[in-house]
Amino acid sequence: MSKFKPLLSADEWDELNFPRDKINQFDLVVERAISRRGFLGGVLVFGSGAAAMGTGLVSSTSIAAQQAASRFEFAPVAPATDGTVHVPEGYHWKVLAGWGDALFSSADGYDIANGGLLENSEKIFGENTDGMETFIFQSHQLIAINHEYANRETNLPAEQKGVPANADDVLKLQNLQGVSVFEIAESGDGWSIVKDSMFNRRITHNTPMRMVGPAAGHELLKTPADPNGTMALGTINNCGSGKTPWGTYLTCEENFNGYFGSTVKPQAVPSALVAKGYDRYGIDADGWEYEYHKWDARFDTSKSPNEPHRFGWVVEIDPTDPESTPVKHTALGRFKHENAEVVLAPDGRVVVYMGDDERGEYLYKFVSSGRYRPGGATSELLHDGTLYAARFNDDQTGEWLALTPQTTSMDAEEILIFTRMAASAVGATTMDRPEWIATNPNAIEAYCCLTNNKNRGVKPNAGGDETPVNGPNPRQTNHYGQIVRWRPHHADHAATTFDWDLYVMAGNPDVYHNAYGGSKNINSGNMFNSPDGMAFDMQGIVWIQTDGKDTNKGDYAGMGNNQMLAGDPVTGEIARFLTGPKGCEVTGLCWSVDRRTMFVGIQHPGGDWPDGNGKLPRSSVIAIKRDDNGLIG
Ligand code: FEO
Ligand code: CA
Ligand code: CA
Repeated sequence: MSKFKPLLSADEWDELNFPRDKINQFDLVVERAISRRGFLGGVLVFGSGAAAMGTGLVSSTSIAAQQAASRFEFAPVAPATDGTVHVPEGYHWKVLAGWGDALFSSADGYDIANGGLLENSEKIFGENTDGMETFIFQSHQLIAINHEYANRETNLPAEQKGVPANADDVLKLQNLQGVSVFEIAESGDGWSIVKDSMFNRRITHNTPMRMVGPAAGHELLKTPADPNGTMALGTINNCGSGKTPWGTYLTCEENFNGYFGSTVKPQAVPSALVAKGYDRYGIDADGWEYEYHKWDARFDTSKSPNEPHRFGWVVEIDPTDPESTPVKHTALGRFKHENAEVVLAPDGRVVVYMGDDERGEYLYKFVSSGRYRPGGATSELLHDGTLYAARFNDDQTGEWLALTPQTTSMDAEEILIFTRMAASAVGATTMDRPEWIATNPNAIEAYCCLTNNKNRGVKPNAGGDETPVNGPNPRQTNHYGQIVRWRPHHADHAATTFDWDLYVMAGNPDVYHNAYGGSKNINSGNMFNSPDGMAFDMQGIVWIQTDGKDTNKGDYAGMGNNQMLAGDPVTGEIARFLTGPKGCEVTGLCWSVDRRTMFVGIQHPGGDWPDGNGKLPRSSVIAIKRDDNGLIG
């Protein structure tokens, strides 16, 4: 055992610091058992609690068929409980970049003794890697990557429990988060960062950003430092990612609420609407002990009450131009954004699928007003469009409900700034924490990881919306998670109606012989919990990453550490490809341009991975290759 304890994920921080309403209005659990036919051809039986009838997304015959003809070119790996990464025989991995690695030769690299120096903190690979995408520009391969949050104790070892004690401490944490853009190159020794590349760039909690779209300049976005409400500083709690057809990077602001606090208590709130927004989004007078509000006035809600409204957005970054100003897109709504999956409708409109990762919050879709044309103007395509929230009906149909003044009784700008309230107003379906959404390149369909929700059927969401057991969220106190999939009608991602099924319900078939045992494509050899990251490769295989309990005991016995699995959308087959080190979350996935390398993120590892010798664990990106240098997606 290492002397270093496993670190908390941002989601765990949020739950610890912002426990939701304890009132249980829904202790009478809805019990149902509804048979339906899923896309995979099996009969799906939903159940809840002790009344669960067992599940079967994939019929026994199709399981037998897929075992005979698996599309996977690897032998699955066993669950692991140790402190390193495992991949299948015939594959190998190497660290590409880790927290503290220098992006510029003027910076010292990682230093265990002092957690890195302030003067280097803007020139190094930041902490807690998350979503990432690869780009090719004039033969240069680039990665844009998120740094979701910072562990105070590891970065500020001189301070008591890592709590910032001065403005420099705060600035160091602000510099270690945000986004990195850097060039990579492959040599005989594998992949590495191209130090001092003209593309290398750090975007931090202080980088200037333009606010665009319908809500830009709104009263609720104006602050003492920015009376026009159009220029924000920084991007915060960057979780999942997205990539546009025109080659820009999308970074998604998730648990931004925890960075704010108030030096005046109780928290001063200028209006009933702002107070309602603070409650819904979790803006609290104490914050998460980042202590920004004590040393940086704009994070003090008593001095700058609208500053929290300038976070919770999707931000667009041009990775090919280090001088470019990132753009915050108000048209895509404000919530705890997980990722942004971009796909084109047949008529060229841009569709962006987005999840709001909190218990009982919603799934969203943006459809642009303008149309994408290769070579045409793209800079304003995400400035204007229609935002929808999803309603899933129990008959396996669904609708995208437009969020408009008519449907919500809110004005157009307030819909975008308080999007959660708008989705509540139209009666969208409360979901089990929507994490990543991915679209299949070989079929007109989309998948969303619903990671888990201990409050399902137990208590309402932060807005007081009921969270009864429902179609795509079929288990009370759902601690395993599931992946919902939808097919838009008319084979058009811009359509407002769809059919849906569950691709998989995670569970433990060794412990439970009911719905908590999982769907029939889950077995003792591939079980996992809490699906989170997700992406399709070019072959149409869906890669599923987990961020769950890794105790390997009780309900989680046999699952081991967090992992990455491959899924066949056609047969339902799922096989474990990678296991991460104890304590980690596996998150972030992209490929080299030649598809012979897969880059995978390992966030908040425990122990001393990857350096060993008792050194601090470092969140890192690994490069995985086949031994024969064959295609890997
Ligand atoms: Fe940053 Fe919901 O994960
Ligand atoms: Ca996540
Ligand atoms: Ca998660």
